Amino acid sequence: ALNVSKQANIVLIGPMGAGKTTVGRQLAQQLRLSFVDSDQEIEKRTGVDISTIFEFEGEDGFRQREAAMMAELGAHEGIVLATGGGSVIRAENRACLQQAGFVVYLYTPVSVQLRRTARDRKRPLLQTENPKERLQALFSERDPLYREIADLVVDTSGEHLRGTVRQIIKGFK
Ligand code: S3P
Repeated sequence: ALNVSKQANIVLIGPMGAGKTTVGRQLAQQLRLSFVDSDQEIEKRTGVDISTIFEFEGEDGFRQREAAMMAELGAHEGIVLATGGGSVIRAENRACLQQAGFVVYLYTPVSVQLRRTARDRKRPLLQTENPKERLQALFSERDPLYREIADLVVDTSGEHLRGTVRQIIKGFK
């Protein structure tokens, strides 16, 4: 990849159940940066939740809103940005996230993703007969894309929040 200069943000990528929100809040607090969650921003703007957007506009409609949000948030400085699990699907988003800052892939095995999202009714892609199969398919598709733009890969399956945060801060500095 070209050695483009990056902005001073931390960008968290990874699947549903990776802990992007939990890790992001903690990181932001320790580094005194603001925490921004792209899905939450989309919900604030539209006034409805993500599953309602999927219901009325389909996944394509959501992906368009997500791409617009990436472009907007990618221009910020001094934030910790938590992205949605599918934010890396579009090449334009990957380019945007990569230049937005230090990109951290919160790697999480499917079994752990499944456990963390098990009682979740808010994620439209998991409202299916077989969420494990769905998570597995998404993982096969997306793991290479996460790795493509990651500056650091951290395994969050150990549930060791402080250790995870420490590793990220060390890499960012
Ligand atoms: C999605 C992940 C969700 C949300 C939407 C689609 C995905 O975000 O953007 O439901 O495609 O993996 P989280 O990763 O924060 O759950």
